[in-house]
Amino acid sequence: MLSNKLQSELNKQMNNEFFSEYEYLSMAAYFHGMNLDGMANYFHVQAQEEHFHAMKIFHYIIDKGGKVELQQIAKPDVDFASPITVFEKALEHEKKVTKSINDLMDVAIKENDHAVNSFLKWYVDEQVEEEASASKALGKMQLIGGKGEGLLMLDQEFAQRTFVAPAA
Ligand code: FEO
Repeated sequence: MLSNKLQSELNKQMNNEFFSEYEYLSMAAYFHGMNLDGMANYFHVQAQEEHFHAMKIFHYIIDKGGKVELQQIAKPDVDFASPITVFEKALEHEKKVTKSINDLMDVAIKENDHAVNSFLKWYVDEQVEEEASASKALGKMQLIGGKGEGLLMLDQEFAQRTFVAPAA
């Protein structure tokens, strides 16, 4: 059984993950608009990862006999100043998600709920990777100054990214 508090916090985190999916889809749309389809692909893959993160929580709540409550998804950013800004925002966003996972873990620890604690460890580890890959992508964008031929080269590299569902 989930406590009311943990059920509500897990539902909130599920919403955060769906919002992340939206945010990254919006970034993908921005790059399609610039004919940088490889960069768009990078964010489509990111959006797929976020969908996976959300659905993992969805099924966990069900498995625990809890109630999934889908909420409204906030409007994502739709205007970006430059390609480099998008990658800055993506890293910033991942840092916020890490904080919300940590806050959720604090609740599980406080409530001494070992099962939820164990479930959330996957997210704690995943966030290390999420921040590392966002940071690496931003670093590459900074290296090329976010424009020119370098941008086209990076676009080709990011076109190769594929979604691989993590071991659940
Ligand atoms: Fe679900 Fe990118 O964190």
